Amino acid sequence: MADLKAIILQMSIEDKLCQLTQCCGEVFIGDGSVATGPKARSGLNDEMLNKIGSVLNFANCDDAIKVQKEHMENDPNKIPMVFMMDVIHGFRTIYPIPLAMGCSFDTELMKECCQMASREAVAGGIHATFGPMVDYSRDARWGRVMESCGEDVLLNSRMGAAQVEGFQGEDLKDKKSIAACVKHFAGYGGAEAGLDYTGVELSEHTLREFYLPAYKACIDAGVSLLMPSFNVLNGVPSTANKWLMQDILKKEWDYKGVVISDWAAMSELVDHGVAKDENEAARLAFANEVDIEMCVTAIYVNHIGKMIEEGVFTEEQLDRMVLRVLELKEKLGLFEDPYRGASADAEKREFLSEKNREIARRAAEESAVLLKNDGVLPLSKNIKKIALIGPFADNNAIKGFWSCNGRDEETVTIKQGIEKLVPNAEITVVKGCTNDFGDKDTSGFKAAIKAAKKSDIVVLCLGEKQDQSGEGNSRTTLNLPGVQSELAKEIAKVNKNTVAVTFSGRPLTLGELHESVPAILHIWFPGTEGGNAIANLLFGDANPCGKIAMTFPKNVGQCPIYYNHRSTGRMKDPELDGQHIMYMTNYIDSGNLPQYSFGHGLSYSNFVYEDLKLSSDSLTADGEIKVSVTVHNDSDVAGKEVVMLYMRDLVASTARPIQQLLDFKKVCFEAGERKNVEFTVREPQLRFYNPENKHVSEPGEFLISTGYADHLIHTKKFILE
Ligand code: BGC
Repeated sequence: MADLKAIILQMSIEDKLCQLTQCCGEVFIGDGSVATGPKARSGLNDEMLNKIGSVLNFANCDDAIKVQKEHMENDPNKIPMVFMMDVIHGFRTIYPIPLAMGCSFDTELMKECCQMASREAVAGGIHATFGPMVDYSRDARWGRVMESCGEDVLLNSRMGAAQVEGFQGEDLKDKKSIAACVKHFAGYGGAEAGLDYTGVELSEHTLREFYLPAYKACIDAGVSLLMPSFNVLNGVPSTANKWLMQDILKKEWDYKGVVISDWAAMSELVDHGVAKDENEAARLAFANEVDIEMCVTAIYVNHIGKMIEEGVFTEEQLDRMVLRVLELKEKLGLFEDPYRGASADAEKREFLSEKNREIARRAAEESAVLLKNDGVLPLSKNIKKIALIGPFADNNAIKGFWSCNGRDEETVTIKQGIEKLVPNAEITVVKGCTNDFGDKDTSGFKAAIKAAKKSDIVVLCLGEKQDQSGEGNSRTTLNLPGVQSELAKEIAKVNKNTVAVTFSGRPLTLGELHESVPAILHIWFPGTEGGNAIANLLFGDANPCGKIAMTFPKNVGQCPIYYNHRSTGRMKDPELDGQHIMYMTNYIDSGNLPQYSFGHGLSYSNFVYEDLKLSSDSLTADGEIKVSVTVHNDSDVAGKEVVMLYMRDLVASTARPIQQLLDFKKVCFEAGERKNVEFTVREPQLRFYNPENKHVSEPGEFLISTGYADHLIHTKKFILE
């Protein structure tokens, strides 16, 4: 074990500040001159660059190995660098985007995917990822909703923790795991009007109740790093937000891991207008013990030394921050082996291996959501003629945003997937139109209609492009871009056996499509094995079981729309949705209910819920209630069902959500099988934030239901004593 304190003792202040600085990979592998190129932009001289603590982004292990080797030769303190990258949903083999993974409701599968990503990342020379992203969000206009697991606190927390456990494994020294970094602390998902980088205004109550729990769950799961968000929360950017970074994170939560800024977040304190210059920006971030400065500028190196000399900060604080970074390196085993399993052989063995592709395919199957099915699906493999129509018919750009080192050319298209599964079918591919915003060109419809007419089945392959969601990609509309909905309408008119497969990184407004076609399978961005997964799902080799993790609105005006809202004083009977009743909570030009509620998702099986039972109708502080429900697969198709338990706290000192996911289990069923699914309810699950922002439960009546949001069934009541 390295003696970290002894290492720190031998370091100069500049050495230490370089240790807290992260540079981009291109600084080390690109232009060799300090006068031009990325090196020049880093603001650091060669001597400083020799002492840098961490690097962001490498394309392959050769670069990583070369740069680490040179560093170990040149760094006077011989401290290996830690290499980080956004391994968000896969490294080279890409699995579905996190929002899709949320729809799988399968934490074990999430872990398996992250372990796979870690193995590939280790081979490629990466030691840490900037994930999980657990920003709670309710606004589909925000492009980054694709990175989190949706609008439910419990699901987002469990999925966040599963990612931490999956990436980090049992022991970071095992050379199969990488360090995880929870981001973006806190509340970034509340961006006003879904516009990326805008400020977030959240009451402490709402922040604590909905936004903070998932970050905390990741910390409890042992996450190694945390990234504050670069936007403004209640007037103060998180990087400079004392309440958030010191009072909540360090004091209340006792977080002991590394804090790394987001990209340029420190220098952007100047752009936000909370620091007059980089000197002040450095002071604000350092005061919050943001340990590592990520890229672009080097404001710690350039400013903090002087502040320590002047007594603004102590060297003791600097040492504490450096120690955290060195501890991370020690945990990763970098002092024993700075290369940590990176090799071209390991890359060859791991990248896109049969096993990894199988995991990615299974994940895509488990996260797809069957939104509608009037009986057209599953398709028969005896079909003779299939028309694949739409921009995604034979398109390999379906990995999704943030797909790390994944490559489109290694991704299976729908056409390739179907060709492989039903080799005897005659497949016609017609694009019909683009999915460019504002494209009104319908000249491709004619060929598409012709193909539809002569085919037994049409698969419409529609959606957003993969770069129409993700960072910086906010939208003011949520429709299928271009004339895709019109195309669908025309096609469905000439062929009633038309099914739609829809792609997106966010919930879309699919009402028009819903009215046009008899079946919709929403596949999100499914990753490398997308086409194979889609083929399996369409032809019944896989049975859809995903449930949507984020509400699909009817129209953009409903945003933000989410299932776990509070009651108003004027709530309307949902049966009357769409009818305008004066002085009630209603839009006068639309219903209040969404197109598809949180938890919606069909299957080729038919699950019937019977007999919800509570072991007692009262609960004490240290007691428990067993809740059981019988679920019957009333069909001849084996399948999986996400059994959900919802609650409502009827009277409390703050208005409670009218429905709130309390627990869920994903259960496998044989054809015709009946199973008793059991949950345990204890008092801590009933806690909420009271008007003093204390996390408490209050005695009174609670409702327990099964079903899913807006479609609850079998409600029972119990009393918390
Ligand atoms: C994003 C982070 C990401 C970082 C590094 C930033 O723009 O907000 O989520 O980890 O870039 O790529």
